[in-house]
Amino acid sequence: MIRQAARDFAQTELKPGVIERDEHQKFPAEQVKKLGELGFLGMMVSPEYGGSGLDTVSYVLAMEELSKVDASASVVVSVNNSLVCFGLEKYGNEEQKQKYLVPLASGQKIGAFCLSEPEAGSDATSQHTTAIDMGDHYLLNGTKNWITNGGTASTYLVIAQTHPEKNHRGINVLIVEKGMEGFTVGPKENKLGIRGSDTHSLMFTDVKVPKENRIGEDGFGFRFAMQTLEGGRIGIASQALGIASGAYELALEYSKQRKAFGKTISDFQAIQFKLADMATEIEAARLLCLKAAWLKDHGLPYAQASSMAKVYASEVAMRTTVEAVQIHGGYGFVKEYHVERLMRDAKITQIYEGTSEIQRIVISREILK
Ligand code: CAA
Repeated sequence: MIRQAARDFAQTELKPGVIERDEHQKFPAEQVKKLGELGFLGMMVSPEYGGSGLDTVSYVLAMEELSKVDASASVVVSVNNSLVCFGLEKYGNEEQKQKYLVPLASGQKIGAFCLSEPEAGSDATSQHTTAIDMGDHYLLNGTKNWITNGGTASTYLVIAQTHPEKNHRGINVLIVEKGMEGFTVGPKENKLGIRGSDTHSLMFTDVKVPKENRIGEDGFGFRFAMQTLEGGRIGIASQALGIASGAYELALEYSKQRKAFGKTISDFQAIQFKLADMATEIEAARLLCLKAAWLKDHGLPYAQASSMAKVYASEVAMRTTVEAVQIHGGYGFVKEYHVERLMRDAKITQIYEGTSEIQRIVISREILK
């Protein structure tokens, strides 16, 4: 039922206008509002806090369907669910949950997760943004880069260094609200893919953040970021899976329509072998996503599984979308056939929430420990 609901939404609400939103870098505001009303923005949050109370397996199913059509919309679902709501529900106190989680889980507000900096992407312990302890508040200064939902969010989880002498153990995570004095949003990035997604730099200049907006103990921020990213990687893996399966379905359909040399092109082994490889790799990626989700739902360790799902699904997304364009020939190179957009959208899944290289570091450390 969840898969069908997400599929219907993708076809009826996301598909119309997706090409124009991509071309004009238009955020899918109306569609995101409806996703919130349907409970997709707080899928795994307990109903007590306004969420849908579903499991991670359901989230994977929904993410795949939404991402088949519009990865710019599905990244909002992924970040809001996995990085923002999950972090607040698991590690926030009751007051923080009531104030910030409830409106995020019901989709009335959107959240952003602010870890990356101009000089700290993969090397996430090297935070230059500072949160100086001033007694009753923190004084926040610095710049964050590549922030998904940067302009549209209302609630920002900002990672910053409080005790540089303690390195990553001195990092905190603060809840920052849009409109706090000294907080400014930079221009929207002009991107290769997920162009509808709202990506910005954020600048903090002497922003006073109340002490009660810190999540967890003093110095918990880096562990917080790593723990939320473990789940976030399941979301992005499922997004990559959806981009791959969306491109595959379009290529399969096209191959059964398009005629060349007196036959449909699906009658040629050159095309059949491509379709067979695509279907096999997509199925393997899907099983990796579902396994990571199942482990998380059962309270079992899932760091290795989520990184395996992400690295594999994102590479499958890249390979599959390139082949989908190839099967479409010249038509694949123009916007009306959707596969060129999926090819451009696929690339980011190998970069955000940890590059493919970072996933291999996580996996090899788990194997060797
Ligand atoms: N859970 C809990 N703690 C963890 C952890 C985990 N999964 N992984 C690491 N840690 C802890 C370690 O135990 C260690 O703590 P102690 O020293 O206290 O024991 C501490 O974190 C530092 O760990 P490392 O020594 O392993 O740190 P490192 O610098 O060698 O590497 C890394 C860690 C895995 C490379 C990490 O920096 C990383 O994941 N980098 C990528 C960051 C990332 O994914 N950025 C994406 C930005 S978010 C985004 O894209 C969102 C969006 O908008 C779509």
